[in-house]
Amino acid sequence: MKAVKLAPGVHWVGAIDWNLREYHGYTLPGTTYNAYLVRGSEKTALIDGAYHGFEKEVIARIRSVCDPSEIDCIVVNHIEMDHSGTLPEFMRRMPDTPIYCTARAKAGLARHYDTTGWKIHVVRSGDTLDLGGKTLTFLEAPMLHWPDSMFTYLGEDAILFPNDAFGQHVASAARFDDELGIDAAMAHAKKFFANLIIPLAPKVLKKLDEVGKLGIDIRMIAPSHGIIWRWHAGEILKAYTDWSHGVSKDKVTIVYDTMHGSTTMLAKAIAEGVMSEGVDLRLCLLRDGRYEGTHRSDIVTEILDSKAVLVGSPTLQDEVLPTVAGFLSYLRGLQPGRLTAKKIGCGFGSHGGMGGAVAQIEEALKEAGIEVIEGGFQVNYRPDEDELTRAYELGRRVAREIRAR
Ligand code: FEO
Repeated sequence: MKAVKLAPGVHWVGAIDWNLREYHGYTLPGTTYNAYLVRGSEKTALIDGAYHGFEKEVIARIRSVCDPSEIDCIVVNHIEMDHSGTLPEFMRRMPDTPIYCTARAKAGLARHYDTTGWKIHVVRSGDTLDLGGKTLTFLEAPMLHWPDSMFTYLGEDAILFPNDAFGQHVASAARFDDELGIDAAMAHAKKFFANLIIPLAPKVLKKLDEVGKLGIDIRMIAPSHGIIWRWHAGEILKAYTDWSHGVSKDKVTIVYDTMHGSTTMLAKAIAEGVMSEGVDLRLCLLRDGRYEGTHRSDIVTEILDSKAVLVGSPTLQDEVLPTVAGFLSYLRGLQPGRLTAKKIGCGFGSHGGMGGAVAQIEEALKEAGIEVIEGGFQVNYRPDEDELTRAYELGRRVAREIRAR
């Protein structure tokens, strides 16, 4: 197994997890855990690691550059186990190697591992580590992704190691954006942002502003998952700014599940109304045991750049269907209301008894920070022609309203 060179003395020594298909509640085509080796004239630093189980792969890649015993220090940008899982093995092999991390990371590591005897040095924003012709500067980045997170910047080569930020879950032979292709890289980055970063959007904007004010040159962004942005660092920085601001298209995402097809009839009628106004649309049947449907993680990726979200469910035992309940819970957690630009939405559905699903949907949308508009409605059993016309008109009205925003 080989390391991959980013710059003289800077190598990727991570691991490729080809078989991971679900993580943090969303589907993915595998991922990578990126670790980096930075060799100065006096010291060698290892930045981050991989999940437990990938120790041999990381060590083999390091060995293609130098003997692991030559590592003088380890930088832990983030303690989540997909990056720190290999740390106990490194500390078993090299117990005197100092670890550099934030105060919260030090406390967090002790909650994950037996850190007795580990030489942990707490760093703060602006602290530096001189490796000899290569200087690492630390920048605390709390909540990007966890309270312990920080970025590390290698000034001489203008490389930012931001851990989770700007990452993507993709397993590939490609290590760089130009090798994977910018369109594919951006699509994976968008899904990563939609499923992990949305609730952190205000912190992303604050951190981007802070980094901008530092006036540092960033030629390459080397995240802890996926490809390294060596040609398109500017594009991913701009995409994070736009996504955090909630920059959206004139696009509606309709999400629904159905029991006997009545809610499907409503969803399709609303969709026709949206399309009649020339507005882009995604009609997503939630994935369950009966239909292929669309996974919630792909739906929220569509929602990221949609201006409106309509959610449909029949009423089952006075509740929304379990698939819809799961989706709404996921959406509430992501909090799209934290994006600068707010989205609009409403509920719809069919019922046989007392109904109630639509009210629950709209309550959940509000809790997710989506502005609920008038017009959501439920029908008894099968929608008749008048009700289908009402659904069509709802679609038209939503389309016109988002076009006006
Ligand atoms: Fe990739 Fe927050 O860990």
